[in-house]
Amino acid sequence: MSASPLSPEYIKIRHAHRQFITPEGGIINALDDISLSIAQSEFITLLGPSGCGKTTLLKIVAGFEELDSGDILLDGQSIIQQPAHKRPVNTVFQSYALFPHMTVGDNVGYGLDIAKVNKIERNQRVAEALNMVGLSGIEQRLPSQLSGGQQQRVALARAIINRPKLLLLDEPLSALDKNLRLQMQLELKNLQSELGICFIFVTHDQEEALTMSDRIVVLNGGKIEQVGSPDEIYHTPKTEFVAKFIGESNILSGIVINKSETEIEVDCNGLTLHSFDTKPELGEEVKLLLRPEHLSLTPNDHEGARAQLTMKLNQTVFIGTDYQLHGELQNGQSFSALTRKTNTPLVNGSELTLYYQVNALHTIPSKKKSTKGHI
Ligand SMILES: Nc1ncnc2c1ncn2[C@@H]1O[C@H](COP(=O)(O)OP(=O)(O)OP(=O)(O)O)[C@@H](O)[C@H]1O
Ligand SMILES: [Mg+2]
Repeated sequence: MSASPLSPEYIKIRHAHRQFITPEGGIINALDDISLSIAQSEFITLLGPSGCGKTTLLKIVAGFEELDSGDILLDGQSIIQQPAHKRPVNTVFQSYALFPHMTVGDNVGYGLDIAKVNKIERNQRVAEALNMVGLSGIEQRLPSQLSGGQQQRVALARAIINRPKLLLLDEPLSALDKNLRLQMQLELKNLQSELGICFIFVTHDQEEALTMSDRIVVLNGGKIEQVGSPDEIYHTPKTEFVAKFIGESNILSGIVINKSETEIEVDCNGLTLHSFDTKPELGEEVKLLLRPEHLSLTPNDHEGARAQLTMKLNQTVFIGTDYQLHGELQNGQSFSALTRKTNTPLVNGSELTLYYQVNALHTIPSKKKSTKGHI
């Protein structure tokens, strides 16, 4: 039975495993039991450090690489036996690899020429595809007569012309300069909603992932660390790896020493912090995540003095709109905060009082429970 167009399970990756034997004789688990369901018109991003398996997963979906075990279903049908050219999937790579001796029109129309689509329809669809990527009327130019951003758009036009159900994009913007990259991020997002098809986008740039995605899949060492909306991934990371990988973070280790219905108190090596995140048990070891932007040099009206920390300031960095303050807490831990222009003097070596929002303090459970601290 076929999935409905809005089914969140349009694409199902089931227990995907892929190992590589390296020339040195080592074994790499490039994909280690990946299971993931994706909706038909979703913009989903694979995010993770170099070597975590992003490209391997895309290649397997595209059909350029095989699974050791597991399955991939598209609209209810397994596609792993289908050769790459039969899958309704196209890929855009980092190096857009246009044919240099062919005009833009011939590059974009290449797939239709191979499929022997008649000239009139072919030319019309080339014009449509170029129009979708904002490049009307440049069919006669050669790739060398275009900027990097324009070439990337031609590669996109070439990838969408045969109307794939799924577009795979492997770091397609990484060769572009920052401004062009930001512009292309918005254009890609618009293109995806216009086409209404699924984009699986790969990046190792966290900001890019947060800006563009409906959901983000954070990968680490061939495994999924977390799948969620950009908001969930940023504000409620499930693991320390995700908390550190996405955005700036202060992570404090501690033990829950007090717990009420609405609040916990955590001892972090002599410092007591409060959180409204009451999932951890009394006596449990936890990691606390406190983002630098959730700290302030002025007290919070509701929480006042109890939600504060003292930091010895070591360094102030001006980053345009804000100041990054780097220093050390009383328990010796490195710490940072972000603040707008302030009347508080920022003198290295001075002690600053930092106020935090209790509701912004998120806990990440540790694997093991502590034996001490029960009260
Ligand atoms: N053909 C291969 N033979 C051996 N090892 C491979 C092969 N292809 C990939 N690997 C290894 O598998 C792991 C995953 O590689 P992959 O290319 O999927 O990483 P990635 O997340 O795309 O990294 P990057 O961000 O650097 O592009 C890496 O450790 C890589 O060295
Ligand atoms: Mg890669």
